[in-house]
Amino acid sequence: MASNSARLGVVVFALSALWVAAPDVNAATSSVEPAGLISAYSVAAPRTEAASGLLARAVLPAGLTCPSVQVELRNGSIRDIAMLERPRPVNTSSAFAPLLVCSTPLPVGARRASIAGKVVPAAMPAEVQRLALLGDSGCRVTTWEVQDCSDPAQWPLSRISHSVAKDKPDVIVLNGDFFYREAPCPTTQEALCAASPGQIPGMPFTDSAYGWLADVFIPMAPMLSAAPLVVVRGNHEACDRGGNGYFYFFDPRRDTSNTCAPSFIDGVLTAPTMAPTPTYPIDLKISSKRTLRLAIVDSSGGNDPSVSPYAAIQRPTYEQASAMSVPLADRESWLLTHRPIFGFASSVFATSSDPIVWGSADQAAAAWGLLGNYDMIFSSHMHIAEVVQLPGLPPQLILGNAGTLLDPVSGYALPAHGFNVGPGQTYPAPRSAWGDVKFGYALATPQSAPGAWRLQMRDQAGQDFATCGLRYTTLYCRAVK
Ligand SMILES: [Fe+2]
Ligand SMILES: [Fe+2]
Repeated sequence: MASNSARLGVVVFALSALWVAAPDVNAATSSVEPAGLISAYSVAAPRTEAASGLLARAVLPAGLTCPSVQVELRNGSIRDIAMLERPRPVNTSSAFAPLLVCSTPLPVGARRASIAGKVVPAAMPAEVQRLALLGDSGCRVTTWEVQDCSDPAQWPLSRISHSVAKDKPDVIVLNGDFFYREAPCPTTQEALCAASPGQIPGMPFTDSAYGWLADVFIPMAPMLSAAPLVVVRGNHEACDRGGNGYFYFFDPRRDTSNTCAPSFIDGVLTAPTMAPTPTYPIDLKISSKRTLRLAIVDSSGGNDPSVSPYAAIQRPTYEQASAMSVPLADRESWLLTHRPIFGFASSVFATSSDPIVWGSADQAAAAWGLLGNYDMIFSSHMHIAEVVQLPGLPPQLILGNAGTLLDPVSGYALPAHGFNVGPGQTYPAPRSAWGDVKFGYALATPQSAPGAWRLQMRDQAGQDFATCGLRYTTLYCRAVK
């Protein structure tokens, strides 16, 4: 274990430990889904999309018809609710042609739901006691860097998914960057990624049905139907990357599946110009007197090292998030944004013009003066587990360690200076930080005081490697010995 002490606080980053042997997940996931189902899951949605706050989704082979959802209501009656086909993104040629996606809002008062015999979450929980948090999960395949997708110790998403499901969370938050198979497997790396689907030639985006099966629906199978999913868009789901799949499979809004669909401009198939989609809230009931509001910001676009004109395009999403998170006596709020506001990366990534790799510049500029309403900011994007505390601002939690190739294990000395994002706009230097470069996820449990949570940082086998406490907008972590 390496440690660095700094003047204003303590940063501890630990080398990834030898992998703890995990159970064989194949035994738990090898059953064939009924009636051709490839996947079935429930997605948390704003109340404008579903009065119950939850949608049922199914992914099937193309050529089949959408099944119905069989719902048992609290009064004991049974209803069959037709699922409607979610429009396949247009102009995507054969990229998504193998699949059919079906969706319907679940009714208020459901206590059990199943699709072709497969049970899916029927309702948002009446009381959230366990919240699973994770992000950055796909297996990286690019022309310059390849992860070992064939070795579950090197790409442990299926193990993490199994461990999350075993924890029986009430809600699972997936904080973006699902899709990493952006290039054909290099011929020199076939031992690592020979079967990986690559970009379809001629398409102005990198994802495909088979890519999403490999990066998401197969490895995440153990947890996808374990609890309602809160889903956040990452930069890997930008329109010229995995955005089409994101909007087709996961975005909870009904008219969004063509958000990233390309169009012909001067005869050339072209991805849409990047723009964030509107912020929306998801409310989680903690108790009869306590609600956690998640304000979900789309930070798939923008620049990380320095502020760009995109910050002004992004700013309305943080204005919307702040307006919907005004503190109430019975409500606390977390800001969910894939790109962190206050995270700092390893100095290995530093350059002379960017000596401290704060991230993300555009997000921090766009959110300037708009962060006072949150108890915590939850992000991913950096492939580590990190907590950063700036004086007078909500703590930043980063969990980008759910399977994607991890960041360097060293170079995380506490930055001595704050983060300048514009004239007269310099965030204060961090008071403290904690971090670890290890695959895993977190389990969050509400404590009795309003706004208070316990976070268990878990490794791929579901063992705690650190515990954290959130109280009075301060998040403090310590390693588990
Ligand atoms: Fe990432
Ligand atoms: Fe990212």
